[in-house]
Amino acid sequence: MSELKAIRQPVEREMREFQLHFKDAMRTTVPLVDRIMRYIVRRKGKQIRPLFVYLSAAVVGKTSERSHTAATLIELLHTATLVHDDVVDESEKRRGFFSINALWKTKVAVLIGDYLLSRGLLISIEKDGVDLLHITSRAVQEMSEGELLQIEKARRLDITEDIYFDIIRRKTASLIAACCAAGAASSTASGEADEQTVEAMRQIGEHVGIAFQIKDDLLDYEPSTITGKPRGGDIRERKMTLPLIHTLAQMPSSKRRKLIRTIKYRHQSTRHVEHVMQTVIGGPGIEYAEAEMARYRDLAVAALENFPASEARAAMIKLVDFTIRRRS
Ligand code: IPE
Ligand code: IPE
Ligand code: MG
Ligand code: MG
Repeated sequence: MSELKAIRQPVEREMREFQLHFKDAMRTTVPLVDRIMRYIVRRKGKQIRPLFVYLSAAVVGKTSERSHTAATLIELLHTATLVHDDVVDESEKRRGFFSINALWKTKVAVLIGDYLLSRGLLISIEKDGVDLLHITSRAVQEMSEGELLQIEKARRLDITEDIYFDIIRRKTASLIAACCAAGAASSTASGEADEQTVEAMRQIGEHVGIAFQIKDDLLDYEPSTITGKPRGGDIRERKMTLPLIHTLAQMPSSKRRKLIRTIKYRHQSTRHVEHVMQTVIGGPGIEYAEAEMARYRDLAVAALENFPASEARAAMIKLVDFTIRRRS
């Protein structure tokens, strides 16, 4: 965590103010909702998306009041999608503790996700952030498409590497791209950032987001005590991620068919899930995924280096590196 603290330094004040904005956004008079909102605020995540918003604003100019609107809106949407994602993935753990669906059941989790989403929409309208809403709504649409595409592929178990990248670009990279684009669009310096700058930042965020999800998929092979999420959750949900896809692609077809059958019919057996995981760990897939992740990291950093050198730019490069080195 201290690594993130150092990265936050150029926008430390903004991140402190963010906590207040975020908490404020979750105020409600409905007791059950209030209880759950407090639970969410207490078990907050890494908050790297707000950090991307503020650093992007600072890289192209100066952060502004609108940067707070963008950061709050995006963290609300992110939280909403996590609450829904844990319902979809039937996941019992999040951020080292019980997920909302584990504690309050599916019905409540679905409605809490909707509530968080609507809070984000309202705040952006109230704060005159229609352009920010435009950037983020596109991301939310893509996230839903990505998750649905993933469900379809999990049913059929016929995912290729190209489709994998298409899924993660939509379900994860789109929101991180929105962080960087909205951050740039919210900055003030020599007037508003022009369209070209916003687009350049969006592209950087997309590359970071792809690296981010490859890392998340690698972390699925790590112990739950470290990541705060269930180990092997992806295979249990028949989600084929890059380490597995690449390992399968390198196998002789008879072995490949056998492994796919195991995933298809035995994905609920801990012993079989462990067998699939050990096969991947023993194969070429992990290293391959790490190399792909590094390639996207390099693309993002090279594009960032086109912006003038500054403290914010250096911090953002460090944040990209943190994305691929993190343990949770
Ligand atoms: C988790 O995102 C969801 C993915 C897109 C993989 P984070 O790892 O940023 O989650 P928190 O907010 O820090 O818990
Ligand atoms: C990312 O995929 C989820 C979202 C984009 C909301 P995962 O399902 O792998 O995310 P985690 O591992 O549950 O955080
Ligand atoms: Mg999940
Ligand atoms: Mg995951």
